[in-house]
Amino acid sequence: MPPSSPSQGHAPGRLVDDLGRRRFLFVTGKGGVGKTTFAAALAVALAREGKRVLVALCNTKERLSAILGTKPIGDEIMPVAEGVWAVNISPDKALTEYGEMVLKVRSVAHAVFDNRYTKTFFRAVPGLYEWAMLGKAWFHTTEIGPDGRPRFDVVLLDAPATGHGLDMMRVPKVILDVVPPGVLRRDAEEAWAMFRDPARSGILVVTLPEEMPAQETIELVDAIKTDLTLPVLRLVVNAVLAPLFSPEERDRLAQEASLLSMDAPDRTNGTAESALVAGARRAVREKVQAESLARLKQEIDLPQITLPHLFDEASTVEGTKILSRLL
Ligand SMILES: Nc1ncnc2c1ncn2[C@@H]1O[C@H](COP(=O)(O)OP(=O)(O)OP(=O)(O)O)[C@@H](O)[C@H]1O
Ligand SMILES: [Mg+2]
Repeated sequence: MPPSSPSQGHAPGRLVDDLGRRRFLFVTGKGGVGKTTFAAALAVALAREGKRVLVALCNTKERLSAILGTKPIGDEIMPVAEGVWAVNISPDKALTEYGEMVLKVRSVAHAVFDNRYTKTFFRAVPGLYEWAMLGKAWFHTTEIGPDGRPRFDVVLLDAPATGHGLDMMRVPKVILDVVPPGVLRRDAEEAWAMFRDPARSGILVVTLPEEMPAQETIELVDAIKTDLTLPVLRLVVNAVLAPLFSPEERDRLAQEASLLSMDAPDRTNGTAESALVAGARRAVREKVQAESLARLKQEIDLPQITLPHLFDEASTVEGTKILSRLL
């Protein structure tokens, strides 16, 4: 499959139509695989279809502003592109806001939530900090704009990397299990009902066509399906190289030990053989990629989105446009 034409597996129809029907999308995966890059491209692609999209970041050292070419993204919602808004959710602030909503009176909320002991207490409640962020992101799906339409059509949560992402997605369920009836529980119930409904929500798992990420992704998808029982909509295979070699050429080059030895680049520097050394290294990478792609296809029964490896344009506004057009 040439990476310039992203495969959409066995999913019918256009990707943007299919995903754009959902109100809340989780983007998750192992650290550094391209979650934020993909979230930005998807947000731009959905906005091009007329959707109002909020990208919610979870209290991270954000790189989305660099990817979209905007000012740094803070804890207030700000416009970042035509039809796209972003916020970097601060759990402390979200918790205070939540307290204000629940308790209605700002001064009381501040007294309760700014208190050092209360904060320590909340930190000790498992998942409450995660819920502050996830709950706030979900809350934005319930807001109605001045025109009577939802303020945002789609909320895209750029979730924390694998382990923490799973913990975060599990929180509403934990609240349902342990918290007595009340406002907190009511919101968690509503959020959980949305997250479990594949017509309204779903998870997009991002991975790379490499050995370790592929293995971890197989385990992650399995954990989401069996343990969380939340709908997974797509597997996003990011940064796929367009193969330069046929499988036969690849295998032959990848067996050339002398070209692949540690000293090969220095030894051949400035000679014609250096091209062969570069080729052999590329062949090994393509071999690992082909094997990883085959494993992902075999082990994960999900429609795939394939995005190409970008060289100069990665993490730029131009790169985001390129990727968004492929969606
Ligand atoms: N398609 C691509 N082609 C080339 N480079 C890419 C591609 N996608 C992402 N990258 C690069 O990979 C790195 C990680 O990307 P990104 O920040 O989107 O990952 P992430 O999963 O959000 O990471 P984190 O877990 O740290 O939040 C960045 O340097 C980015 O430029
Ligand atoms: Mg990220």
